[in-house]
Amino acid sequence: MTQIKIFDTTLRDGEQSPGVNLNQLEKLEIAKQLERLGVDVMEVGFPASSQGDFDAVKKIAETIKSSTIAALARANKLDIDRAWEAIKNAAKPRIHVFIATSPIHMKDKLRKTPKEVIDIAVNMVKYAKSKCQDVEWSAEDASRSELPFLATIIEKVIDAGATVINLPDTVGYTTPKEYGDMFKYIKEHVPNIDQVDLSTHCHDDLGMALANSIAGVQNGATQVEGTINGIGERAGNAALEELAVAFEIRKNFYPFTTQLTLKEIKRTSDLISKFTGMMVPGNKAIVGRNAFAHESGIHQDGVLKNAQTYEIITPALVGVQNNDLVLGKHSGRHAFKDKLQKLGYNLTDQKLSEAFDAFKQLTDRKKEVTDDDLFVILMDIQTDVSNRKQYQLRSFQVDYDSEQTPSATVSLITPDGKEISNKHSGAGSVEALYNTIESLIEEDILLTDFTLSSIGRGKDALAEVHVSMEVDGRTVSGRGTAQDVLEAAVYAFLNAVNRIFIT
Ligand code: KIV
Ligand code: ZN
Repeated sequence: MTQIKIFDTTLRDGEQSPGVNLNQLEKLEIAKQLERLGVDVMEVGFPASSQGDFDAVKKIAETIKSSTIAALARANKLDIDRAWEAIKNAAKPRIHVFIATSPIHMKDKLRKTPKEVIDIAVNMVKYAKSKCQDVEWSAEDASRSELPFLATIIEKVIDAGATVINLPDTVGYTTPKEYGDMFKYIKEHVPNIDQVDLSTHCHDDLGMALANSIAGVQNGATQVEGTINGIGERAGNAALEELAVAFEIRKNFYPFTTQLTLKEIKRTSDLISKFTGMMVPGNKAIVGRNAFAHESGIHQDGVLKNAQTYEIITPALVGVQNNDLVLGKHSGRHAFKDKLQKLGYNLTDQKLSEAFDAFKQLTDRKKEVTDDDLFVILMDIQTDVSNRKQYQLRSFQVDYDSEQTPSATVSLITPDGKEISNKHSGAGSVEALYNTIESLIEEDILLTDFTLSSIGRGKDALAEVHVSMEVDGRTVSGRGTAQDVLEAAVYAFLNAVNRIFIT
């Protein structure tokens, strides 16, 4: 078995998904979970792109110990300086420099000759190497590049000090055979290729990102880049959980393995889905709600007789558990702490007290507190930003009856600490609330998406709302959870608006 390194780019390429913008605390929580999952490398941002990205990368670099922390940089000194500044305190830092190598990108985007591109790549890899021992170099749009040119530039950047060579299918255009052949060609035509890790990086525009990544591995790649839940630019990136589980389940066929802790997959997927607001489709492989559900009578009958008739993956393998009742009204602080530790959370005393208070409040309203409910409490506690400048909800009231137009009164505390309130109507209760909030805040809002779902089952399940909106022309998403759907809707709206203050 060859162990393939997993390079997670959920916090960089994944964060480039339309409408996704995570704040620093959310990124840090995701990074900690990726470390628990056991990724070899996590690319956590593009520090030159904004101060917010720089700060988040720096914080993660100072916190994470076992995974390598990579930061992206274009092939110029300013980007490389920013990347290094952000990650220099990491236990294992990596600078990731990229430049395009395809004829169309070099000519029409970079406006450089192939010779100029080689010179820039070599000089910038040398520059990055003068700061950081571990330098990854990516040939952007490698899959549409000319192979002899690709081999020439790769040989030179390895001589310049690159430790990893990544060959992205940037536009999701390639097929498994072509992508595999590219790796084979590079292995055969680059004399110093054995000094480095070769890496895949596939986008899913034609639905072939995972198949292409595996073809790369079968032809010599030792690192796979991708994201959890396959999120990313356009149609997304290769889904890492699918790769790791495919290698595990088909180990009779694939001689590859990864060091991921598979039972952390579901929790990682849930966390990322909740923070990004990108719902996992029910039929998504490995982590979708229906991935282990057997609906037809024939399948159910077979599974009852022998689960292996229709079940190739056991839910437990990826950490999907029965949502058993775990705690209730009479559970004490000790049992609560114990349960959190079993779930993998070790909180400081102060955070534990906050979480316990939130748990007690929930038990006043909800009889059965499940793992999913605890997960929500923990996310809110861990990413609480209430001490920052933002809009806060003071109170709201909705007037609704089936004969009249609904109206809502909302009171907010502004980022400057003033209390403001207003009343408006709308075609429905949510619209009345949102119209009122919009009338209160200064920013221009355009709501583009609203989804409501329940966490767990039963009449008293928590409600979860995700919204996407344009705030002063910036695309943001927000999430809110509460016992009541209207309350969750208000929290989600404010959470989205507040992102303009905290990213
Ligand atoms: O898809 C791509 O080419 C990238 C590079 C920046 C590595 O994300
Ligand atoms: Zn990419």
